[in-house]
Amino acid sequence: MDPFASPHNLDRELHSLLAEASSSLCDWLAESGGQGPMPDSFDLPEVSPAKKGVSNKVILSELKLLMNGSYRPSHPGSLAHLDPPPLSASIVGELICAGLNNNLLAEELSPSLSFLERKLCKWFCQKLGLGDFSGGVAASGGSLSNLMALVMARNFAGLESDASAVFFASDDCHVSFSKALRIMGLKDESLLKVPTDENGELNISGLRSTLEKTKTEGKKCFAVVATAGTTVRGAIDPLSEIARFCKKEKIWLHVDGAIGGVYGLSTITSEMVQGLGSADSITVNPQKLLGIPKTSSLLLVANKNNLYSTFSTGLPYAEPITGNDFHGGEIGIQGTRSAEALKLWIGLRQLGEEGIEKILLDSIEKRCYLESIIDSSKFKIISGPLHLLALTPINYTSSQAYDWSIKTRNSLLVNKFMLSRPMYRDRYYLKAVMGNPNTKFEHLEILANLINHSIV
Ligand SMILES: Cc1ncc(COP(=O)(O)O)c(C=O)c1O
Repeated sequence: MDPFASPHNLDRELHSLLAEASSSLCDWLAESGGQGPMPDSFDLPEVSPAKKGVSNKVILSELKLLMNGSYRPSHPGSLAHLDPPPLSASIVGELICAGLNNNLLAEELSPSLSFLERKLCKWFCQKLGLGDFSGGVAASGGSLSNLMALVMARNFAGLESDASAVFFASDDCHVSFSKALRIMGLKDESLLKVPTDENGELNISGLRSTLEKTKTEGKKCFAVVATAGTTVRGAIDPLSEIARFCKKEKIWLHVDGAIGGVYGLSTITSEMVQGLGSADSITVNPQKLLGIPKTSSLLLVANKNNLYSTFSTGLPYAEPITGNDFHGGEIGIQGTRSAEALKLWIGLRQLGEEGIEKILLDSIEKRCYLESIIDSSKFKIISGPLHLLALTPINYTSSQAYDWSIKTRNSLLVNKFMLSRPMYRDRYYLKAVMGNPNTKFEHLEILANLINHSIV
């Protein structure tokens, strides 16, 4: 078989390969419920290319091996992380994306898709209240969106060559900010952690005193990071208050809304993230809740020119862009980029505004329900207004909580529930994320019963 499809005739081999591969993917999805979140064991196919290329039959059987060893996000007990099952239309979108193989680097390599990405980013910006000059760019994951935001904020403040420049974020901010430091050539001390309150939200007076201290030390702050949806408990920092503070102090506000940003898309839930529209930049990860296959993250900015002034280098090997806009490769760190906007766009089209709202509301309802049926005399539950919660036994020492977390996670896995085991404030918790539409209330009742009986 010619491994490249003919540009002249219908390639029947590709046609049947796609049909058979799609059919085994559909089988894999359909079998998920009868399996567990994790495979019991798996065999890897041959990894190195053989001397001669393998047949379609071999390709299909090797793909099946890999599928059998894969994590199953569709299983109703898959509740460990922010990795929901994929939307059907987005699966197709990803396939079409690979087939088109366009490049979001420059318009000439992705004429329609470059426009699609720009318009889709604008739609998000408008929904989240970012104003007329806003725009954005898709990035491969929230860590990259956060990194780009910090680089842009530092550039905006004119502090790119100030090694003592700092930024602030809460104690519960995501680890991607520590990674960003290293990439940006900053020291660990350049990230000043502001204490959180008992709800896991950034403490605003702590923010004020951190800035005062920074000023006394003669250092300059280039950004405040607020988190809309912290990783372990889904807390939302007081966005409006932080925005007022940043405006007064003339400091860039970046909101890491990798988890909570999507709640700004519905008028019913947007109140929870009020103040989002006052940010200078926002990370949003539709991959984490809306069923868009990985990776799907957007960096949205109130003024798109800031992306360009930070990242443009000129693209001397591409034709100038038409109209008054920027090539994708000029407004972010990545050069060549896949058209990730395609699966995002088609997935959201499939859901419609009502479908998006239903996912958001259902996720919160399930978290509230699970929280209500966990025995609060035995467990400390930490959660925010979103769809995640974490719990740990009340009367245990840290080391007992550690043993309990391992034992309970394993016994839940035997019962086909997968929770994650984060360490939070020196103690292990079990965390459940209610982003899986296949999880029903009956599943949550079984889960709560197992958890409630995990300690006597
Ligand atoms: C709050 C928050 N921000 C950023 C990220 C990083 O996103 P990604 O894993 O897509 O890089 C995560 C990941 O879980 C997160 O929880």
